[in-house]
Amino acid sequence: MGTTITLKVNGKSVTREVQPQTLLVEFIREDLRLTGTHVGCDTAQCGACTVHLNGRAVKSCSTLAIQANGSDVTTIEGLAAEDGTLHPMQAAFRACHGLQCGFCTPGMVMSAVDLVQNHACSTEQQVRDGLDGNICRCTGYHNIVKAVQQGAAAMKA
Ligand code: FES
Ligand code: FES
Repeated sequence: MGTTITLKVNGKSVTREVQPQTLLVEFIREDLRLTGTHVGCDTAQCGACTVHLNGRAVKSCSTLAIQANGSDVTTIEGLAAEDGTLHPMQAAFRACHGLQCGFCTPGMVMSAVDLVQNHACSTEQQVRDGLDGNICRCTGYHNIVKAVQQGAAAMKA
């Protein structure tokens, strides 16, 4: 027996029936076909599934869809402006080559935006600590940290 949920995703209201065990990441990827949110593990460690729930970063593989009922969800697809202009954090990742294969990137960017908006991130160590829940298997993190620092400066400007 399903439950009907209504929430805003990237500013648009959606109503769907979900099963009690449906994960938010499954709802986003399979029901809404927003496949920029990735699944990179089954242990809630990699952060590839990170989205914003009411303005805070959450791992959508560890959140039930019904927990998002009545909430605002933002995925990587909702970050850029409607005319396609990249969010300052996305632009910084591109400018600093903060990615290689790109698999971790949506989650990294969503965590980075949360870091800037809701946490201290003025030093390199704070950025590294803030991204502790996001794993990148390619880059060695150096350019990601540079990108987050550049993106943070652009967001605050
Ligand atoms: Fe959610 Fe890895 S898929 S933390
Ligand atoms: Fe490949 Fe991060 S760029 S996993």
